Amino acid sequence: MRPNSTSPADTEAKIQELIAQLGDKYAATGQDLVGYLEGLYHANFLSYWNYVHLDTLLTLQTPRTDFPDENIFIIYHQISELYFKLVLLELGQIADKSDLGAEEFEMRVRRANNYVRHLIDSFSVMYHGMEQDQFLKFRMALLPASGFQSAQFRMIEIAATDFDLLLLPSEKQADAETIADKFKHLYWLQGATELATGRKTYTLLQFEKKYANTLIEMGEKYATRNLRKRWQELAGKGKTTESLKQALKEFDTHMNVSWRLMHLRSAVQYLHKEPEVIAATGGTNWQQYLPPKFQKRSFYPELWNADEMQEWGKDWIVEMLKQTNKA
Ligand code: HEM
Repeated sequence: MRPNSTSPADTEAKIQELIAQLGDKYAATGQDLVGYLEGLYHANFLSYWNYVHLDTLLTLQTPRTDFPDENIFIIYHQISELYFKLVLLELGQIADKSDLGAEEFEMRVRRANNYVRHLIDSFSVMYHGMEQDQFLKFRMALLPASGFQSAQFRMIEIAATDFDLLLLPSEKQADAETIADKFKHLYWLQGATELATGRKTYTLLQFEKKYANTLIEMGEKYATRNLRKRWQELAGKGKTTESLKQALKEFDTHMNVSWRLMHLRSAVQYLHKEPEVIAATGGTNWQQYLPPKFQKRSFYPELWNADEMQEWGKDWIVEMLKQTNKA
């Protein structure tokens, strides 16, 4: 119970005041306050487990095999998706705020950085946390599903930068004008191509069937208010700051280098290079596709100098090698 230092008379006056305010609130919508007060009397108190839907949350893991480590794989993917959702909440508020200032912009980017950093720092749950033998077996029962199909990951990219910066550097994209046209030239198509035939993988076909329209709509919505555009808007008015720039660079590195390297480390750890284990990913060319140094993708290229772009990801690889040697 909350400590109560007010007198009974003050409490009574406060109750009357709140009832009067509630009366006004309900009268304004033509509803009867008495009925609502009666409902309040009968309603159960809120509990922690109901509020966070704990029972449901803890039953959302349905492994496809009996290998215990499959639970780790599922739960860590779910944790990742929840963090992605937190990132999107911040990016959405940056996009939607009409009078966005540098201070709020930076505060939200720093929150997003914090979430992604948690994922980067915890990726060892994947690359050290499962038995390879179990992984290689249960992974086969999950085909053709892949983290590649994470729509929220793509949504973060779409909210973070201009659609054009997510395209393959091919000639075809020159003719692509609308977001729907550009959608056919996104860089991630490279990661969903069958090595043997060059065709789209079934993993990609499934993903496009479910999410293409949503992602195209999102691309249209964010064309004028993704983070890059919002930053340019502020810069154009001379209202950006050095620390906002640093926060955006950090976000760029987190999403396009560090997270991807940690993720790559997991793929290398479990899948190696033998053709038979490549099959465990649906036969994609992940070894050419996943390494950030091959892609050199950046949300904010104008914030980096030529040397930094040339060395894209190098510092992180050096750091990762040091950690690997220590382990
Ligand atoms: C042992 C753990 C993991 C392994 C071995 C692994 C493996 C792979 C591979 C091989 C790919 C390339 C596409 C494919 O061939 O399927 C991929 C893509 C992807 N995975 Fe994972 N993954 C792991 C964990 C995760 C986790 C925890 C997430 C979080 C949601 C995730 C999200 C993604 C995303 C977003 C892509 C697409 C990346 C891009 O387009 O650059 N993966 N993964």
